[in-house]
Amino acid sequence: MNKPCHVGLIMDGNGRWASNQNLNRNEGHKAGAKICMDIIHEAINLDIKVLSLFAFSTENWLRPDDEVLSIMSILNSYLESEILAFLKRGVHFRVIGDRSKLSTKTRFLMSNAEKLSIKNKGLKLVLAVNYGGQDDILRSIKKLAEKNCDFKNIQFDDLQENLDTTDLPTVDLMIRTSGEQRLSNFMIWQAAYAEYYFTQTQWPDFTVEEFSQAINTFGQRERRFGKIDNKS
Ligand code: FPP
Repeated sequence: MNKPCHVGLIMDGNGRWASNQNLNRNEGHKAGAKICMDIIHEAINLDIKVLSLFAFSTENWLRPDDEVLSIMSILNSYLESEILAFLKRGVHFRVIGDRSKLSTKTRFLMSNAEKLSIKNKGLKLVLAVNYGGQDDILRSIKKLAEKNCDFKNIQFDDLQENLDTTDLPTVDLMIRTSGEQRLSNFMIWQAAYAEYYFTQTQWPDFTVEEFSQAINTFGQRERRFGKIDNKS
């Protein structure tokens, strides 16, 4: 069965999950972060090559300050402990997004986890923080300008090679929880030919079983990449 090489996860529904239980939204994010750990283990078990988690978007700064602080503090505590535990399982950790707006502590923890895992050959775990697909493309163009790119003759590869994901394969399967059916500015370039798995399940209720199910449904999709199918 065909297995996706690169799986993207839009972990939506933490806030609604919490409100439905009369909990503070931040409790939803805490519960959501816990589930992430189960899914990462399962991705390793299923021999997925790349797993990208959309943890905080360029637009998420517009949320109330206390929610932003809470998400950042959850991220810090996972970067300090849980994420490091995955290194023993061969995980190669990467962060994408614009780090310039993040705290010194968060940036240090990110680079530390990246450095410690740089030689690992297992699952590539990509954490998107202050990431936006449009911003990724804009920053790629700025990098090209700094390299004095001849823009009149710009090629597809020039842009692609300057994205945050330069060394990663494109997204094969994008999973989004909580019923919304949109990309919300996540990897808009990289997911151009992704297959989608949408579920009503809110992120904190997502399970390893449903993750495996999403991987299995991918195996039944016929991908044509703009060409005609092989049978015609
Ligand atoms: C979307 O739900 C979720 C987020 C914006 C934050 C996701 C962050 C985490 C799950 C923590 C990640 C931590 C690690 C360690 C990977 P929402 O708040 O938009 O939910 P709603 O649509 O119900 O309001």
